[in-house]
Amino acid sequence: MCGIVGYVGTQKAASILIEGLKRLEYRGYDSAGVAIQQEGRIDVAKKAGRVEVLAKEVARRHFSGTAGISHTRWATHGGVTDANAHPHLSSDGKIAIVHNGVIENYLSIKKFLLGKGYAFVSETDTEVLGNLIAYHYAKETDTKPGSRLLESVRKTLRHVEGTYGIAAICIDSPSEIVAARKGSPLLLGVGEGEHILASDAAALVSRTRNVVYLKDGELVQITPDSFSISTVDSLEVSPVIDQITWSIKDAELSGYAHFMEKEIFEQPAALENAMRGRFSEDGSTANFGGLNLSATDFRQIDRLVFASCGTGWHACLVAEHLIERFARVPVEVDYASEFRYRNAPLDRDALFFVISQSGETIDTLAALREAQRKGYKALAICNVVGSTIARESDGGIYQHAGPEIGVASTKAFTSQLLISAMLALYLARLRDMSYSDGVTYVQGLKAAPDLVRRVLDQAPRIKEIAQRYAQCSDFLFLGRLSLFPIALEGALKLKEISYIHAEGYPAAEMKHGPIALISERCPSVFFVPQGELFNKIVSSMQEIKARKGKIIAIVTEGSDLPAGLADETIWIPDCHEAVLPIVATVPVQLLSYYIAVARKCDVDKPRNLAKSVTVE
Ligand code: G6P
Repeated sequence: MCGIVGYVGTQKAASILIEGLKRLEYRGYDSAGVAIQQEGRIDVAKKAGRVEVLAKEVARRHFSGTAGISHTRWATHGGVTDANAHPHLSSDGKIAIVHNGVIENYLSIKKFLLGKGYAFVSETDTEVLGNLIAYHYAKETDTKPGSRLLESVRKTLRHVEGTYGIAAICIDSPSEIVAARKGSPLLLGVGEGEHILASDAAALVSRTRNVVYLKDGELVQITPDSFSISTVDSLEVSPVIDQITWSIKDAELSGYAHFMEKEIFEQPAALENAMRGRFSEDGSTANFGGLNLSATDFRQIDRLVFASCGTGWHACLVAEHLIERFARVPVEVDYASEFRYRNAPLDRDALFFVISQSGETIDTLAALREAQRKGYKALAICNVVGSTIARESDGGIYQHAGPEIGVASTKAFTSQLLISAMLALYLARLRDMSYSDGVTYVQGLKAAPDLVRRVLDQAPRIKEIAQRYAQCSDFLFLGRLSLFPIALEGALKLKEISYIHAEGYPAAEMKHGPIALISERCPSVFFVPQGELFNKIVSSMQEIKARKGKIIAIVTEGSDLPAGLADETIWIPDCHEAVLPIVATVPVQLLSYYIAVARKCDVDKPRNLAKSVTVE
């Protein structure tokens, strides 16, 4: 949510910053701006609208400076205007700042600064931060050369309540950036004669793969040839330089029209990566290297509690189903945003899990910290290596799904489903699941990538169906058991990228309210797997049909659905029960994607949404 890029080096900063912003645009895209140090000035260009609008302005102004900061915004304080776009200049013109997060005590700081003669031109909390740095900077005249900006930022942060990732430059120090983080991600890229700061590795991987993940409460001072890290409390930090394992190609469209499309088609590979090296030699259970709990520890656990947000929350619901079904351990699922305030009573031997693609979602992070504060072990299923949740959890499972850029999560979701299925297997084999059932289960999981490929082969047909229904006003998604969460996910995918109202329900629950919506313009997407509830689901379909509702049915190959019941049929291959949610997800991803494309929606950057939500 909001993206920061900063650069100091020998190259022209503006084009590097714009390229970085384009790669971070999924984090927020209502306005963007740059501030460049050149010829003793700080030149600012900022514009409401997409990075493309800013890029034109920057090209027009021919910035030549080799240091600067930039930002792409997702508005919190203040509307979407040029004035509210970042960077913000302090009223004395000395400091420019970009900021992610929310400064909670900004009104009292603003009052203080107004009393000192500082003026404000925007409605943002960020401008308050910039002026407070300028205020301290004006007083820091005795500080040793080279530390004045750093110490001013440090003093400012001691007075600030809230969350931030910031980067600041000062007119007196043309090759220096000071940055800091608390609750908003920030990485330092260590290059040859240059340093680059970014909210996400995607913005810097084209220049370097050597990165330092800053921690909460840390500040970094960078020049072209040096960097130093310290804390808000003035302690020095020895940096750990990590290597990014993926390349810039992984974060490019590579011929696809949208990242969402690319990521849907990357799912077989993402599933393979999630499984690689994670099965026991005898092929009957899963192994995870990073859980930091022994088999004996796991046997003590009498309940699991999962918390997450958005699509990850749907993955938690599937985890609940599979773990209860196969391992017979009770599972609770909570919205992370509720868990953090609900003060839920937990069992003595509960184990806490969060699921987060980005590893930065603030509500999920807060839930993790709350569980840890209560003395529970808190583990994470997470995609982004080195993210805050990955670092702060007591252990966990990396998804290895590669970078996910499309705002609507796709490959990260099915990878979370697969890892949940593997976790269910691991727990089940510690309890009552037999060796041979374990082997069958593992074989079922290993088949998942190929089964998903078979669903992807139907993309042209699903596209045709999508075009027929693209102008509908409402959709129902109906599924049972492990496919009820997939109904929720199908509805979420459709509404977030096509702006069609959609609801997900357990199929039998539909008659207790949602059936009132049924009309020719409100089709129902039914998940109809072969299995124990097949006939019950068919009855629910009949109830819709009797009211002239259109039906799109996602049906197991070879199943005997009564002829004429569904208006459209999408086939999914027969598969192990643990893989069914994965295989059933792919058709609704494709359906949502093609409907959004048919409606000419901006699929990768849906209105009002951001991929990584780092504010409450
Ligand atoms: C945002 C995104 C969703 C995502 C959710 C949780 O709302 O738009 O796609 O599911 O955040 O994100 P996380 O990174 O924690 O999985």
